[in-house]
Amino acid sequence: MKWYTRDSSFAARIVMNKTPASTILSPEEIKRTTDAFFAESEKSVERSLDSFIALQSMVRGQRSKSDWETIARLVLQPHALSQLARRSALSNRAFSKPRGYAGDAVMIDLIYDQTLTDPSNARLSELENWQYQTLACRAVRTRRMVTAAAIDGLTANTPRIMSFACGHLREAELSRRVAEHDFSEFIAADQDPESLSYVERVFGKYGVSTRCATVGQAIREPATFGTFDLIYATGLYDYLSQDTASSLTGAFCSMLRPGGKVIVVNFAPTLSDAGWMEGVMDWWLIYRSPEEMHQLVSHQDPDLFDVETMVDGPGALVYLTVTKNRE
Ligand SMILES: C[S@@+](CC[C@H](N)C(=O)[O-])C[C@H]1O[C@@H](n2cnc3c(N)ncnc32)[C@H](O)[C@@H]1O
Repeated sequence: MKWYTRDSSFAARIVMNKTPASTILSPEEIKRTTDAFFAESEKSVERSLDSFIALQSMVRGQRSKSDWETIARLVLQPHALSQLARRSALSNRAFSKPRGYAGDAVMIDLIYDQTLTDPSNARLSELENWQYQTLACRAVRTRRMVTAAAIDGLTANTPRIMSFACGHLREAELSRRVAEHDFSEFIAADQDPESLSYVERVFGKYGVSTRCATVGQAIREPATFGTFDLIYATGLYDYLSQDTASSLTGAFCSMLRPGGKVIVVNFAPTLSDAGWMEGVMDWWLIYRSPEEMHQLVSHQDPDLFDVETMVDGPGALVYLTVTKNRE
């Protein structure tokens, strides 16, 4: 085991310098390397977690899906370093899934607000601040700004807008158009009544209306939603199979007015935090490449819709935009 040493900073360096891809670590070696990173956390939580996230990314990249799942569940999730990481409100909520799945609206709010559980606790704050600066968290905050800009950038007069799987509709806080009630209808749809009551409380006064709706209902009964200049869904497609995602995108396309847009966003397979999210937070997503996002609209009439995909700078998220041509 040439790569392994009890000197934790050396172990960290090996991982940070990217051990050659050919070096496949056994579960025992992964555990002992993580032990060394855990020891390092006494001196620096940040350094220890930087090393841990790099290790998980490396192992995830080397292993088959099922091998990785076994290692994540049996070696990484129970490890003391993962338990330490889960003292943060964010990882704790993802792992414990109080609403039955990771990534609920309350959890996403932690990412938006970068909430510290106890600012007087320096070690916990270091841990939480580190997590809020991971690539996935930064990409989620950027996504919020991008959707707010899409709302504000609409050129239609008094547009009709729908946020599907709206959660707490936090992008609306950043939107000038919402503040000025500059739309004819803004529907916030979600399956979660708790999230919808939050939206009603906070955004009802700006004219936003809510609708309790599931993906299945949108697919089966698209005509009951009306027609829109903008429909967007963030933080949803990462949980949908390719077939369901494709049917939902088709349903959204059928709800577009001429010139209208559908924007859907999905985490990309190039997200380097995926191993961390699975190995510590038990947060398993469906990752999609730009090609897989394109395939979601492969059955739509190319004369009627223009399709674009865009990967964000760090390769964390793929944005799919479908625009209906003006007739
Ligand atoms: C990660 S949150 C995203 C919230 C918001 N769009 C954002 O980006 O901040 C995911 C939301 O999807 C909703 N959701 C999950 N599955 C759904 C389904 N099958 N039908 C409707 N909503 C769903 C959840 O209730 C939750 O509010």
